[in-house]
Amino acid sequence: MSKITQVVIPVAGLGTRFLPATKAIPKEMITLVDKPLIQYVVEEAAEAGIKDVILVTHSSKGSIENHFDQNIELEANLEAKGKNKLLEIAQTTCPNGVNIIAVRQPQAHGLGHAVYCASPVIGQNDFAVILPDVLLHNDNTPDLKSMIERFENTGHSQIMVEPVPMSEVSNYGVADIQGEELSKGESKPMIAMVEKPAPEQAPSNLSVTGRYILSNRCMQILETTEKCHTGEVQLTTAIDALMKEETVEAYHLAGQSYDCGNKQGYLQATVEFGLRHPDLKDTFAEYLKNHV
Ligand code: G1P
Repeated sequence: MSKITQVVIPVAGLGTRFLPATKAIPKEMITLVDKPLIQYVVEEAAEAGIKDVILVTHSSKGSIENHFDQNIELEANLEAKGKNKLLEIAQTTCPNGVNIIAVRQPQAHGLGHAVYCASPVIGQNDFAVILPDVLLHNDNTPDLKSMIERFENTGHSQIMVEPVPMSEVSNYGVADIQGEELSKGESKPMIAMVEKPAPEQAPSNLSVTGRYILSNRCMQILETTEKCHTGEVQLTTAIDALMKEETVEAYHLAGQSYDCGNKQGYLQATVEFGLRHPDLKDTFAEYLKNHV
């Protein structure tokens, strides 16, 4: 077992659920309050101790890499004008000590295929996966950090889950923990994981929420994972195979999740992140009081 220092973030998807916003800009570059979505998840990874962020990206998404790179012209301009606060903001989009590495997924063959595209960088290491549509908030220990600690203490892969109404399970991967109760912040072994089941066939209402800590064996399994009926290689299929060989646990999110890949979730996140923003929260709360 290796320490978790690498995260794979798939960003090659076209973001059709968010048209027209995503016609000419990547969905990961949509702004939430004052930062693009991708910056929140890279900061989350850094806070959990990640050193290498591996973006699995596409030719139309160069602005994501640019966001984490230096912009010499902008920095020279801000420096000349003595705008030091703005200069610092422009220089710290990439957290200290984090390497941004980009690999390409030239064709969309599913989430499992996207993750496998990062295998030359991951090598023999265990690794994390973050789906950047989902943002998390936790007033206490960040959930990704808790998952990594649990993995490093037990060697068991961790899959983040949270309950959803039964009518919504067909939008998610769903965990089978044999009817056991799972409290917030707790992990328990899974016996199966099913991708987007019909409600009557779902083993539980515990939906997979976009954070994974995976043993390297999962990457090896992905190499030979067959496409499903939609023609995609599902990460879920590989994780289901992994748990036939090793213990894989469902970890119950302790904080709050926001699905920013759809318009309703994004709006809710905008309000809640706005109400937490140090410079804006008071005036924004006042504004909301007068407008609802
Ligand atoms: C993907 C995964 C699914 C997971 C979901 C979380 O589905 O395949 O298991 O529950 O992300 O957001 P997608 O939303 O890409 O269809």
